[in-house]
Amino acid sequence: MSRLRRALLSGVLAALPVAAAVLPAVPAHASAPLRAHAEARGKFVGAALATSPLANETAYRSIAASEFNQVTAENAMKWDATEPSRNQFNFTGADQIMAFAEQNDQQVHGHTLVWHSQTPSWVQNLGATEMREAMQNHISRVAGRYAGNPVLTSWDVVNEVFDDNGNLRTSFWYQKLGESYIADAFRYARAADPDATLCINDYNVEGVNAKSTAMYNLVKSLRAQNVPVDCVGLQSHLAIQYGFPNIRENMQRFADLGVEVRVTEIDVRMQTPRDAAKDATQATYYSDVVKACVAVSRCSGVTVWGFTDKYSWVPDTFPGQGAALIYDENYGKKPAYTAVHDALAGDETPDDTTAPSRPGTPAASNVTASGATLTWAASTDNVRVTGYDVYRGTTRLGSSAATSLTLTGLTPETAYTVHVVARDAAGNVSDPSATTAFTTGSGPADGCSAAYRLVNSWQGGFQGEVTVTCTAAVTSWKTTLTYPAGVKVTQNWSSALSTSGTASTFTNAPWNGNLPAGGSTTFGFIGSWTGTGAPPAPVIS
Ligand code: G3I
Repeated sequence: MSRLRRALLSGVLAALPVAAAVLPAVPAHASAPLRAHAEARGKFVGAALATSPLANETAYRSIAASEFNQVTAENAMKWDATEPSRNQFNFTGADQIMAFAEQNDQQVHGHTLVWHSQTPSWVQNLGATEMREAMQNHISRVAGRYAGNPVLTSWDVVNEVFDDNGNLRTSFWYQKLGESYIADAFRYARAADPDATLCINDYNVEGVNAKSTAMYNLVKSLRAQNVPVDCVGLQSHLAIQYGFPNIRENMQRFADLGVEVRVTEIDVRMQTPRDAAKDATQATYYSDVVKACVAVSRCSGVTVWGFTDKYSWVPDTFPGQGAALIYDENYGKKPAYTAVHDALAGDETPDDTTAPSRPGTPAASNVTASGATLTWAASTDNVRVTGYDVYRGTTRLGSSAATSLTLTGLTPETAYTVHVVARDAAGNVSDPSATTAFTTGSGPADGCSAAYRLVNSWQGGFQGEVTVTCTAAVTSWKTTLTYPAGVKVTQNWSSALSTSGTASTFTNAPWNGNLPAGGSTTFGFIGSWTGTGAPPAPVIS
């Protein structure tokens, strides 16, 4: 991380070493920490942190540093913590979070500038004009404090503006300032920190429902008014006793609006006490949320709301419920941790270093003055052959996903020796096939080339057509099709025909001899054929 403007560092935090926590033995997924897998995907995995355990508990601090590459202040950056009295700012807790993040190469998501909860009463009691001024001043001072500091990368600008029916929450913000407080908050935040990603955040908007659709419509409308809404936060406070939301579909529709999505506060509560079945269900909820974020490219990451059951808002808010996080109250990893880990790690199949087998010797057919069709026997691979390249010496003439390729643009009356190689998804390349040689026919004069196509065939006959293309302008053209014995051209159109043995020479009709540079014309014919099935392609010269 580049040199950063140092946030103020409290003495307590500066003195406390980050030592490895003593954790109980864990199952076999103990490879890399969560953050390594998230970073490998260009995403974050974060945690909401409380300043007290961060300052006082080595195990808390150690896990917070080693497992996460993003942190959110659970409470330290809220209005009641940062401006408890009007224009009296206190950034002690916020700066502690910033300092910790800077020490551990983590990004900070600011939470939250405008919310109806944890906002001091002095704000709520203001009249409309003073309330708007206070909001602008608060945002300017709080977001402005960390503007230009690359540790602070994003903000929850407004939090929970909807009620569960999808109507705007009739908070004191709404009642005093009207709906415009939302757009104003974003504009004030953009003015305070031009570089931060600005989010609107809410709960119960994880699936497609009335509330999330109201959020969707609001974000779409605000962005149409050039209000700087960059991001949507899906808090994701889930419970195993409720169904799992269609979060991936919902994420994708916000992503399709052009905004970033993020899971800002996931926890998955249950009726306590825990048991193996509840833990397993909880783990699948965590896994499916993380997999949804991994699958949606505009999902920037997942933050758990705390990480140990020792410190969680849930039991105080939902009596009889808890155990919502990924570590237990003794800092032991739960199945939910493994679920998050494995969802981030994905299918880490070992690198494929096995090359496909060499392709069969290519066979040339339909050789013309400017092209030829090559076919060959398929290669095999331990994973999957993804394609083939046809070479003339070291020059790649073309590529194909199939076991054939029609070369064009070749030089008339020229000898070609070609071979084929196979490729797989990991970029392994097979040994070269054996070579095959062919010589292109003598092309029509003036850089013209002729391409044959079998239009139809039936017992005893067939219809063919030829397209003549000239690189330079011409006033006439001629091309000869030589079939094997047994084939006889019996009728033709858009051309004049003369035959000699098995060679049929076609010249232009009076009306299609003039072709501009790059121009083309097509003629057709009917032939008889003593063989069975479609006749072999002619040699064109
Ligand atoms: O700081 C005071 C302390 O001085 C006092 O002694 C103590 C007495 O109860 O209260 C402390 O304040 C508590 C505060 O957390 C800081 O710990 C509040 O009572 C308590 O209500 C508050 O709870 C927080 C809650 O938001 C408030 O709504 C939770 O910790 C926090 O996890 C939770 O987080 C919210 C997100 O910000 C927004 N999304 C929903 C999420 C859960 O509610």
